[in-house]
Amino acid sequence: MTGLYAHIPFCSVKCFYCDFAAYSGQGALADRYLAALEAEAALHPAIAPETLYVGGGTPSELTAPQIANLFAVIKRAYPGPAFRESTFEGNPESLDAEKLAVLAACGVTRLSIGLQTADDALLPAIGRRHTAAEFAEAFKAARRAGIPAISVDLMYGLPGQTLDSLRATLDFVLALDPEHISLYGLQVEDRTLFAKRGVEEDSDLGRSMFELSLERLAAAGLEHYEISNFAKPGRRSLHNLNYWERGDYVGLGASAASYYGGVRASNEHRLKPYLEAIETGRRALSESEEPSGREAAGEEALLGLRLVEGFEPSARLRELFRPEWAVLKSRGLVAERNGLWKLTREGIFLGNEAFRLFVPPFDREEALA
Ligand SMILES: C[S@@+](CC[C@H](N)C(=O)[O-])C[C@H]1O[C@@H](n2cnc3c(N)ncnc32)[C@H](O)[C@@H]1O
Ligand code: SF4
Repeated sequence: MTGLYAHIPFCSVKCFYCDFAAYSGQGALADRYLAALEAEAALHPAIAPETLYVGGGTPSELTAPQIANLFAVIKRAYPGPAFRESTFEGNPESLDAEKLAVLAACGVTRLSIGLQTADDALLPAIGRRHTAAEFAEAFKAARRAGIPAISVDLMYGLPGQTLDSLRATLDFVLALDPEHISLYGLQVEDRTLFAKRGVEEDSDLGRSMFELSLERLAAAGLEHYEISNFAKPGRRSLHNLNYWERGDYVGLGASAASYYGGVRASNEHRLKPYLEAIETGRRALSESEEPSGREAAGEEALLGLRLVEGFEPSARLRELFRPEWAVLKSRGLVAERNGLWKLTREGIFLGNEAFRLFVPPFDREEALA
């Protein structure tokens, strides 16, 4: 399958934990940026994508006419049949009835709304500009607009977040009955305000929070299908499943990644250099490589192991990572069931310990010690 991703790098403010290509105060560049997306599409080979994901940044920072224009740009560039799935990301403070009506009219089938936490004391402490009540309003407005499925982004392990606060957030969100939840453990990324302030990840508390979430979400009928993703039956994200299953995708926009013809590429993160490259007829690439051998096999494991139900490893992967697999198995982090490789429950909590064996420099001595 082939997917299409479009990155919208505008945000009202920069959240304190976020290292995505997401810029505040740049909204004046939005029309120019949409023109660049169309020009960039023409630089990629013709594809017939089956899924669309408009992510960010905050796509809902665009005005209603700009959102309509974005979908018109995509339709001109990819005039095939309607997408099987069309996702749009938004934040509570910038989703209003007018924009939601445009999204429904443009065939959006999934809206992903960022909440992170429903704790009104914690929201400003992580740089968010909305309250829990404003999120609930946006959620209900999306339902009224007829968007078929809603996903909610949540985080755990935030500084000052307690188990009670997380439990209350889960109850608050589940009461709205979303089709899908993405739940991420805080990663303190370089170049963020949290990193500058010396915020640290607490792995013990993080694990308790993740365990609590797994129980609560399962009890609510949401299936855990990928390390950070939970869905009602039949509501998994087709677009994201295609990433983990190593399908092809084209990514348009600043920082967007693409994978087709065996080549992985990522675009320039910075807004102006991205625009300048595209406007002079060049791909705005920052990296491009064709993984092979150990690297390609490692990547297969890295992506496939994210799927809770596991994946069928290629003969090359089995062959090249035989000793690593045996060690992970003896540590109880992975298992093989009916020919599928998967993480155990323990492995899901300690995913990074398993994953590091599959990324360069493939330090076998360290791994097997
Ligand atoms: C592309 S981002 C943002 C989409 C949207 N603008 C928003 O704020 O919800 C998708 C999600 O990644 C998560 N995220 C971003 N930075 C993170 C970090 N440093 N650690 C863990 N999760 C993070 C947040 O849950 C965020 O909603
Ligand atoms: S989390 Fe979302 S709103 Fe916050 S800076 Fe990142 S992309 Fe923007």
